[in-house]
Amino acid sequence: MSTPPVIQISDIANHVGEEVTLRGWVYNRTDKGRLQFIQLRDGTGIVQCVAFKKDMDEAQFQQAAKLTQESSIVVTGTVRQEGRAPGIPGGYEVGLSGLSVLQMAEDYPITPKEHGTEFLMDHRHLWVRSSRQWAILRIRATIVRALREWLDNEGFLLVDTPIITPAAGEETTTLFSIDYFGEPAYLAQTGQLYNEANMAAFGRVYCFGPTFRAEKSKTRRHLMEFWMLEPEAAFYTLEDLMAMEEQLISYTVQQVLDKHRTELAIIERDVSRLENVTAPFARISYDEAVERLQKLAAETEDPQQRELLHIEWGEDFGSPHETALAEMFDKPVFVYHYPTAIKAFYMQPVEGRPEVCRSVDLLAPEGYGEITGGSERIYDPELLEERVSKIGLPREAYAWYLDLRRYGSVPHAGFGLGLERTVAWICGLPHVRETIPYARMLNRKYP
Ligand code: 4AD
Ligand code: MG
Repeated sequence: MSTPPVIQISDIANHVGEEVTLRGWVYNRTDKGRLQFIQLRDGTGIVQCVAFKKDMDEAQFQQAAKLTQESSIVVTGTVRQEGRAPGIPGGYEVGLSGLSVLQMAEDYPITPKEHGTEFLMDHRHLWVRSSRQWAILRIRATIVRALREWLDNEGFLLVDTPIITPAAGEETTTLFSIDYFGEPAYLAQTGQLYNEANMAAFGRVYCFGPTFRAEKSKTRRHLMEFWMLEPEAAFYTLEDLMAMEEQLISYTVQQVLDKHRTELAIIERDVSRLENVTAPFARISYDEAVERLQKLAAETEDPQQRELLHIEWGEDFGSPHETALAEMFDKPVFVYHYPTAIKAFYMQPVEGRPEVCRSVDLLAPEGYGEITGGSERIYDPELLEERVSKIGLPREAYAWYLDLRRYGSVPHAGFGLGLERTVAWICGLPHVRETIPYARMLNRKYP
């Protein structure tokens, strides 16, 4: 007798009427005496397996009736189409003829009842098995794939940048330092400076890797370790950047809508808000953004809210400002030309108005705030030298970066997209902690 083929649950529709083998974990079990309903998950989906006493070997049925949540099992049975059968995909069940237990799981800490977030985060290594987390992390993978696909198709070359770096790339106060054989070194806060070197070699490049920020920030948008996608392109202007970003982001949202209706339903995402995310996105200047906020604050009756919205020209936006601005639009919105003083040293000043710079942030709708930040880069060697010394960066550490302006400097621009904030927005999650498999936060590095 030939053994039935091993299949994955995602492929079950192609095996109706056939006998198959499935391998996985018990998601849940309902005991109906002579009938045991086992929700089996294998990572690709969940299917209801029905163990019926009269169809099975007695010892195996007894095992089925004792299965605990998350026990690992191998089953064989016949796939049936059954309209009401729950599962992912729904509408199929497997009538079991055989079952073997690889390991009978101990009392599983995460039960179908409600648990607090801290408890779940402490059990993150197990929580990733839950269907909601499963859905989010699958969407994350598609977002990564879509972003890369779009860039690859547009002629951007993936060129990796180092994680261990000798100097700050963005801001000296948020560096994680490490001991590099007795010398100080830091974990990368950005790949940008290296991207600029790679840009001069390949024209259009991107890096995509883990990024580290030792920010003592406890907000729902901050992680100590996050993933950043950073494209950089020779001869790009700020306008080119915006045109590129809106294409990249609408493509990515579209890919999620195309591939993840099931996952979006599991996490109860309002997809109408996503269907709306098509190019073009609105563009407003920082000046206009401040005016809009000041007007809104003046019209706000609640004094507390008015205080939160208060802003003077020159100040950076806090999250209440970003949320209020984003609410004025039904799609992501670009804010460009921020004050030079609140942005990074390498940003190109606006011609004739050096107090503002050629920078652009993209604010996501629904209160998700800044998901990308970018700019045109200073390409004049003297001006860049001046900026480096003015903010007190050690010249030796930046000598190689300054070289880029000495050997064929060109106008260029780039941006960084925070993956977790993008996933939080697309999935409609209130906090970034569930958007990454193992979040690193101010009070958490376990598990
Ligand atoms: O605005 P940021 O700091 O820009 C840069 O690092 C530039 N060097 C990028 C570039 O031009 N190549 O960071 C870019 C994005 C932010 O818009 C945000 O989405 C995300 O990275 N980000 C964070 N995400 C989670 N946790 C944090 N602590 C983050 N800090 C930034
Ligand atoms: Mg920024």
